[in-house]
Amino acid sequence: MKLAVIGTGYVGLVAGACFAENGNDVICVDKDESKVRMLRRSKMPIYEPGLEELVRRNRAERRLVFTTALPTAVRQAAIIFIAVGTPQGEDGAADLQHVLDVARQVARAMNGYKVIVDKSTVPVGTAEKIREIVRRETTHPFSVVSNPEFLKQGAAVEDFMKPDRVIIGAEDPRATELMTALYAPFTRTGAPIMVMDCASAELCKYAANALLACRISFMNEIANLCEVFGADVDQVRRAVGSDRRIGPSFLFPGVGYGGSCFPKDVKALLKFSRE
Ligand SMILES: NC(=O)c1ccc[n+]([C@@H]2O[C@H](COP(=O)([O-])OP(=O)(O)OC[C@H]3O[C@@H](n4cnc5c(N)ncnc54)[C@H](O)[C@@H]3O)[C@@H](O)[C@H]2O)c1
Repeated sequence: MKLAVIGTGYVGLVAGACFAENGNDVICVDKDESKVRMLRRSKMPIYEPGLEELVRRNRAERRLVFTTALPTAVRQAAIIFIAVGTPQGEDGAADLQHVLDVARQVARAMNGYKVIVDKSTVPVGTAEKIREIVRRETTHPFSVVSNPEFLKQGAAVEDFMKPDRVIIGAEDPRATELMTALYAPFTRTGAPIMVMDCASAELCKYAANALLACRISFMNEIANLCEVFGADVDQVRRAVGSDRRIGPSFLFPGVGYGGSCFPKDVKALLKFSRE
């Protein structure tokens, strides 16, 4: 399939390289010219095991190209992924300006039916906002899909190539069929492709990250109790995690949670829950 991926950050670059590896023709777009120049020399802006080899191989096979020219990429692609940042805004909400700006640019460049896929982490209702923007800008037919990404930094290629599940929020059969076909090679080992409405798909990502952040925070509270009572949190963690209903991951106490997603996603979830 012919794909365009807008935004070549952690998510866009890994997704673009992995889609190319499975035989798709991928045009990766970024507005950052220096990043695009780097990628055209197969130099990676981030370190992820296996990523550089994937990019080199697929560039050599001419399945993966990098550009700043969004309109050309959109015209050539059947499926367009939006994978730009959604940083925390001043009030805690996810800042959607990059996502909505890209949606507008995509709509203006359209030359026929396109599937516009939101891969960025966005609050519930964003697919609908994208739909409205695109409808205003073009008369061409289109579908909007929500396809949240669950990769972990440090194991991004592995996670993308062998996901635990693929979430597809789609509300028409044409888009569902294309997206299911696109992801089929990634789920050969039996991981499910879960098709649902866009709102549910959008909420999945926040629910998963908030639950993981909760587990870390909860274990930190238990670690504080252990200090008070002279208990060994490591023993407690192992005992709790060996319960099959609970499982052992994300139960390690430490300084708290951080990274590029947990803090901003928890705050965004709180903000739209309050609203
Ligand atoms: N980093 C992760 O581990 C991770 C995991 C899952 C989901 N996510 C989500 O995926 C989204 C992207 O995250 P990321 O870490 O890849 O972001 P990032 O900041 O690393 O990359 C975003 C890229 O988009 C480009 N960009 C911004 N506006 C653009 C425009 N108008 N046209 C073209 N390019 C544009 C930027 O130059 C940048 O290279 C976020 O919503 C994030 O929450 C991130």
